[in-house]
Amino acid sequence: MARIQFENVTKYYGNVLAVDKLNLEIRDKEFVVLLGPSGCGKTTTLNMIAGLEELSEGDIWFDDEIVNFMPPHKRDVAMVFQSYALYPHKSVYENIAFGLAMRKYPRDEIDQRVRDAAARLHIEHLLDRRPNQLSGGQRQRVALGRAMVRQPAVFLMDEPLSNLDAALRVSMRAEIKELHQTMQTTFVYVTHDQAEALTLADRIVVMKDGIVQQVGAPDEIYEQPRNMFVASFLGNPPINYLEGELVASNGRMAFRRGELTLALNGLASTRLKGDAGRKVVLGIRPEDVDDRNAPVDGGAIDGHVNFVMPIGSDQFLNMKLEGEELFFRVGKETRHRNGEEVTLAANLDRLHLFDQDTQKSLLWD
Ligand SMILES: Nc1ncnc2c1ncn2[C@@H]1O[C@H](COP(=O)(O)OP(=O)(O)O)[C@@H](O)[C@H]1O
Ligand SMILES: [Mg+2]
Repeated sequence: MARIQFENVTKYYGNVLAVDKLNLEIRDKEFVVLLGPSGCGKTTTLNMIAGLEELSEGDIWFDDEIVNFMPPHKRDVAMVFQSYALYPHKSVYENIAFGLAMRKYPRDEIDQRVRDAAARLHIEHLLDRRPNQLSGGQRQRVALGRAMVRQPAVFLMDEPLSNLDAALRVSMRAEIKELHQTMQTTFVYVTHDQAEALTLADRIVVMKDGIVQQVGAPDEIYEQPRNMFVASFLGNPPINYLEGELVASNGRMAFRRGELTLALNGLASTRLKGDAGRKVVLGIRPEDVDDRNAPVDGGAIDGHVNFVMPIGSDQFLNMKLEGEELFFRVGKETRHRNGEEVTLAANLDRLHLFDQDTQKSLLWD
C-alpha cells in the first residue's frame, strides 16, 4: 500500500527554483500523470519520490511516514526512465533479474518473476538476446519488466515512451494502462504529451515553472480548465482564443468582438452579470461547433473558410474570424470549400472565458 503526500515541497538547484511549494496527495493504487512542458519540474518531482533528489523545503510522506531522508533502496519504488538504461552486456533475462539478484532473492523466485513479467510483456522469446539486438519498443518492455519484477508499492515512470515512434507509443500506452490494472499499485507517470496524459491518468497534475496549475480527472481538466495555460496545453489542435468584451444583450450576458456576439449560457450569464464592459478572452475548442444544425439564438459564428483540411473521420476548417485565424473541427457530411463563407453553430455550454490580465477562468475556480 502506498499513499504519497507532498507538503509544501520546494526544490532549488542553486538559485533555480525547480519545484515551488508542491501540495499533492497521490492515493493508493492511483494513476497520476505529471504533465507540463520541458523544464516545469516533472522529473525533479519524480526524483524526490524516488529519493534521488533531496528536498530543499517541505515533507514527502509515504503512508504515515516522512521519507525525506530515506535512501532510495529503502523506498518500495521502482523507476523506468526515458533512456531505458539497460546493461548492454547482459541478456534480457539478466537485465530483468538484476535488481532481484542484487537483493539476493532465491534463484527459483527470480526465475518465476522474470518469466511472469516476460509473459505479461510478450517478450518471452527475447530473454536470451542482448539489448542491442532489440527494437526500441522491445527495449522499453525490458525496462518495464525490470521494474515490474520488484513488485514495488510505487511505480515511477519518466517519459517512458518518448523514444518510440508514434504508432508504438499509442499501443504501448494501452499496455501501460493494462499493467496498472493488473499490478494494482500506485503509478506516477511523467510526460509532456497531453494525449498520453488524457488516456492514462486517473488524475492529471498540470505543472508550469515548478508550480501546479491544476489537479483533476482528465475530463475535468479538459472541460473546466482554470487558466489559459491549462486550456491550451490540453487539446490538439489547441483551443482557439479571441479577445473581446462582455456585453449585456437581450437580458443575458454575451461575448462580443466586432460583428461576433456569442450569448453565454445561464450559469455563466448569472455568474458574470454586472461585468459588462470587462475585457475578456473567449476560448472555444475546435470541436465545440457544428455545421449540421442551425445555430440557436446568439450562437452563430459567421466566418470565411481560408482552407479545409480533411482528416479522414472529420474536416478541419481554418477560418478567418474578426481578424483572427481559428481552427474548427466538423463532421464530413457537408463538404466545405476553400474561400467559402460559412455559419457554424457554437455549443454555448462549452464556451470558456478568461480574464485578459490574470488569464484565469471566469467560470471555474
Ligand atoms: N541537476 C540540476 N541542476 C541544475 N538545474 C537543474 C537540474 N535538474 C533540473 N534543473 C532545472 O530545474 C528545472 C526543472 O527541471 P526538470 O525537473 O528536469 O523538468 P522537466 O522534467 O519537467 O523537464 C529546470 O529549470 C531545469 O533546468
Ligand atoms: Mg524531465
